[in-house]
Amino acid sequence: MDGSLPPAFDVAAARAQFPILQRKINGKPLIYLDSGASAQKPRAVIEAMVASMEGSYSNVHRGLHTLANETTEAYEKARESVGRLVNAPIHEIVFTKGATEAINLVASSLGLSLNAGDEIVISELEHHANIIPWHFLRERKGVVLKFAPITDDGGLDMEAFHALLGPKTKIVAITHMSNVTGTVTDAAAIVAAAHAVGAKVLFDGAQAIVHQAVDVKALGCDFYVFSGHKLYGPTGIGVLYGRAEVLADMPPYQGGGEMIGTVSQELITYADPPHRFEAGTPPILEAIGLGAAIDWLLPQDRAAIAAHEHAVYARAVERLSGQNWLRILGTAPGKGAILSFTVEGAHAHDVAQILDRYGIAVRAGTHCAEPLMRRFGVISSARASFALYNTLEEADAFAEALIKTRTFFA
Ligand code: ALA
Repeated sequence: MDGSLPPAFDVAAARAQFPILQRKINGKPLIYLDSGASAQKPRAVIEAMVASMEGSYSNVHRGLHTLANETTEAYEKARESVGRLVNAPIHEIVFTKGATEAINLVASSLGLSLNAGDEIVISELEHHANIIPWHFLRERKGVVLKFAPITDDGGLDMEAFHALLGPKTKIVAITHMSNVTGTVTDAAAIVAAAHAVGAKVLFDGAQAIVHQAVDVKALGCDFYVFSGHKLYGPTGIGVLYGRAEVLADMPPYQGGGEMIGTVSQELITYADPPHRFEAGTPPILEAIGLGAAIDWLLPQDRAAIAAHEHAVYARAVERLSGQNWLRILGTAPGKGAILSFTVEGAHAHDVAQILDRYGIAVRAGTHCAEPLMRRFGVISSARASFALYNTLEEADAFAEALIKTRTFFA
């Protein structure tokens, strides 16, 4: 790493599209290093949502009037954008209110067919969103929940993972990129191993989808979930990709309008996917905003963005090297631009509050991943998560401020 930015990505031009980056925090220019929790929004997203509210808004799939038709078209166009993002046809794209709801949908629906003693394999890397819905099935149906262990650098221990799989394994649900360590899991090997024992595979792609191109057909997974708000889109919208043959056999998750075929007093039939899984008025504006985020992101050079983000991450790590009071959680090869750390003698919340005085936003706590915190033997950590709008200068300022915080605790 010579410290120079990859020429293909123009970070100044990217930053100019994010109005919030003009803000000052505590009199200092905002340095936003909390995109792993939620990313900031480009004008393209803000304007698409405002344009819909100001110019063409109604409910979808219900009306015959012009506004209803226009809004339905915009909503379904957003589904096409998601399809392009992950390389899947639109009947395999279900809108949810987030990655969390997408996992709950799969667990609730597939869970109906599970029996006591069936096994679900997850990992020590998982966010609570990819633990609790499966734990419900442990409580309610007596399924066995197994956690694949990780290695000390935060990588998934593939040998141990393979050893957990067997004829009773029905579902394998693993993160594609850890929100704490940035570990990128070997998705192809996970799919091959799970399918070899007849299990279905779900990837929690909430972080991975932001930082790398994802092709669900090349991965061969059964489900892939992510949220809109980490992908520069709005909150309140998420995506469940489900393989058509698998979705076709799944019972609905929620009941309500627009997910039915017919309803009589005696009998109800259900719509085909994806509408079978979209009961009630969906998050219309949010879907339009997510579509705008994807349409804004996809034409960009995503490999150049990933290289840029990695350069910023690597710069922060380099500037912090040699600080023996600092512990970085997760150093697996090929990891994403997420830097979780602990400061000796300091609670992560205090570190985050002091960094805020310098205008620097980081997350602190357990990151909704308590089993992982326990695995690392810590109660919490601070986390700087990098996005396409972060700069090398921001990495320098972050490292400098973090070194200064040390004086409060030494
Ligand atoms: N899952 C989000 C995070 O990692 C909220 O911060």
